[in-house]
Amino acid sequence: MTRELADITHLEPAWDLKAVRRDFPLLELQQDGRPLAYLDNAATTQKPRQVIDAISDYYRRDNANVHRAIYRLGARATEAYESARRTVASFIGAETDKGIIFTRGATEAINLVAYSWGRHNLKPGDEIVVTLMEHHSNLIPWQLLARDTGSTLRHIPLTPDFTLDLEAARKIIGQQTKLVALVHKSNVFGVENPVAEITNMARDAGALMLLDAAQSVPHMPVNVQQLDCDFLAFSGHKMLGPTGVGVLYGRPDLLDSMQPFQGGGEMIDRVTMESATWNDIPWKFEAGTPNIAQAVGLGAAMDYLTAVGMNNIHDYLGQLAGYTRERLQEMDFITLYGPPESSSGIVTFNVDGIHPHDLAQFLDQEAIAVRAGHHCAQPLMDCLGVAATTRASMYIYNTTAEIDRLIEALRKAHSFFN
Ligand SMILES: Cc1ncc(COP(=O)(O)O)c(C=O)c1O
Repeated sequence: MTRELADITHLEPAWDLKAVRRDFPLLELQQDGRPLAYLDNAATTQKPRQVIDAISDYYRRDNANVHRAIYRLGARATEAYESARRTVASFIGAETDKGIIFTRGATEAINLVAYSWGRHNLKPGDEIVVTLMEHHSNLIPWQLLARDTGSTLRHIPLTPDFTLDLEAARKIIGQQTKLVALVHKSNVFGVENPVAEITNMARDAGALMLLDAAQSVPHMPVNVQQLDCDFLAFSGHKMLGPTGVGVLYGRPDLLDSMQPFQGGGEMIDRVTMESATWNDIPWKFEAGTPNIAQAVGLGAAMDYLTAVGMNNIHDYLGQLAGYTRERLQEMDFITLYGPPESSSGIVTFNVDGIHPHDLAQFLDQEAIAVRAGHHCAQPLMDCLGVAATTRASMYIYNTTAEIDRLIEALRKAHSFFN
């Protein structure tokens, strides 16, 4: 395997990397006569033909609206959609598919909890706890909720080496805490946060636990029962699936006790002109026609990732990020951000004297796609003392040869700008 792959990687992924790369039509894209090195996977991943085909096959063969149709085509569409829900439940180790709600993405999943649980359960004096490391998607919904309910939003700060300050967390999480909303894996540092410790603190305080798993479910095995979380949110498009679909996992008894999120078709049981009763979970939270084809595509993406193996993916992305950090450290004009231990698939840095936006543009000329900006984590940028950083994020098709191209291009950028 290693000899066969020597021209693209010196690592040893547990899968056939060349065959996997051939599954992704977009990786054949040439930019200025060179193959594009796509290193912006934390923003969104590319899609294999298995996912593209599942979506187009659904439209060619099974398309109808779900749940209401009496005819056989409608039954096939419903089965395709509900089968995707079962795939999700098994992928994240949920006890039942009743706890799997399809949303538009992680952002909508978190907003659902803020509306359906938060607005009916919080009052002045209650506290919601987040961390300084949150993506805006797991911060703004809680800011709005605190504003609307008179509750208070608090956050766990970072230690000088940019890990969560657990001593401070112990003081912040207490009897007044009703919810802890924690990013499982940072989209800026790639680091996995100590969920077990913080969940224990939340449990001792009698608080609920929500995990923003937008960067963890794509990168590592995630089991909601082992994590013992009440809610978990993620997006399909960061794990080979299409845009427009994501998941909220909720503990079924909790979901049962919550108010609906949006009103409309599907989410009702009996309606009069004056009032209505609600459908069972999960449909109570899926008002209107859902993103059926996208859910089918997400199911196909999970089948693909399961075949590759989530443990294998976690190992490989750790090695690839480790190699990237090592190579970046060869250059004294690079500042690396985040905890020192190697992270899974995400590396954040700056080049002395070059604004990240200029750098990203320069790299684009070299057919390398990275992200530059605040990564939807402005409070974390403030803590780092920068307005923006450059982020290279890898996925299952990336190679050390692409990282080597990035390193060469960074040397070239440094001499060009300085
Ligand atoms: C950690 C984290 N949370 C939430 C989100 C929001 O995901 P989406 O925009 O797909 O809803 C992202 C996206 O970058 C993320 O990285």
